[in-house]
Amino acid sequence: MSPIKEVIINKKTNINPIWIMRQAGRYLPEFREIRKKNSDFIKLCLNETLSAEITLQPLKRFELDAAIIFSDILILPYGLNQKVEFKKNFGPLLGELNMNEISKLDEIDFIKKIYPVYKAINLVSENSLTKNKSTIGFVGAPWTLLVYMINKQSPKLKLKDNFFSDEFLINRILLILEKFLKVHIKNQIDNGAEVIQIFDSWAGLLDEKDIPNYVYMPTFNLVEYTKSLNTPVICFPKGIKNYKNYCEIVKPDAICIDYEIDPFQIRKEISIPVQGGMDPKILLTDKENLKKEAKKYLDIFKDHPYIFNLGHGVLPETDPNMMDYLVKMVKDY
Ligand code: CP3
Repeated sequence: MSPIKEVIINKKTNINPIWIMRQAGRYLPEFREIRKKNSDFIKLCLNETLSAEITLQPLKRFELDAAIIFSDILILPYGLNQKVEFKKNFGPLLGELNMNEISKLDEIDFIKKIYPVYKAINLVSENSLTKNKSTIGFVGAPWTLLVYMINKQSPKLKLKDNFFSDEFLINRILLILEKFLKVHIKNQIDNGAEVIQIFDSWAGLLDEKDIPNYVYMPTFNLVEYTKSLNTPVICFPKGIKNYKNYCEIVKPDAICIDYEIDPFQIRKEISIPVQGGMDPKILLTDKENLKKEAKKYLDIFKDHPYIFNLGHGVLPETDPNMMDYLVKMVKDY
């Protein structure tokens, strides 16, 4: 069994497998080289040969324990026929949301539209570079996707005041998302994804009182579904204040923590396998500091099932040599 599954399923401790969120991305010159020639990001995600190649790039450089498929959480609204673009120095920009069209969409058309993602997973999971490693599939959580679909761009620090004004619309979208996220999860698994991670990047925007409705409930349904397919599921509710409640209610197989939460508190309160935590900005400092901070997480989670990762994606300005240093350091710990 791959080390990541050993940690999640068998609760193995002190083996410290490592993978890094956004490990395939702009900090790698070989990614930028491909990206330069492919200005349409969604098209790039839907080119299975290039997408598989990009997914494997970090595995050629570093001794990582997982490949995370090169795609994006916004491939889902794209599959639902909402326009999705990525603008340079701006981020994602989505088009109008046409509820009539989305309500009529069937599974087959959705799968057809994003089929290359599944083909890419297949290529990656069959490549010798992923032998004894985990191929990780992923989705955005319903709440985070809803935020993008309604807000049409990253919300930065807060939601618009009238975000919840049409509750009927919101509930309709959440139901549609749940249906197609299940389809997306199943097809990733059928094509070789062995672990699923659910990214809820905007969980931290909600008031405590809205968390059960928009985060716990819809995510719980996806966690249950993924488990029913015999596949472990890691949840990353970034910015959530109460990880303990989250774990007790949503019941993921492992929890990925962000860089703002105190890891000592997590160690005390949470018994399921933990992943991540270290601030990605540490990779922008120096090796001595990097070693100290990485060691801090490894020490805290010694004797706890732990997967090393960061508390959010690796930053584009990261020096790949620092990543190399980090991976070696974690392996030698
Ligand atoms: O290596 C991996 O982790 C796998 C690929 C992956 C990408 N996006 C590729 C990507 C994954 C898992 C994601 C998830 C994702 N996408 C999230 C959840 C995690 C998080 O960061 O909170 C979110 C919120 C998105 C939406 C998104 N995609 C934004 C806001 C942006 C623009 C900002 C940014 O970080 O670049 C993207 C673009 C994106 N997704 C890039 C990559 C490699 C950069 C594209 C480029 O080259 O311009």
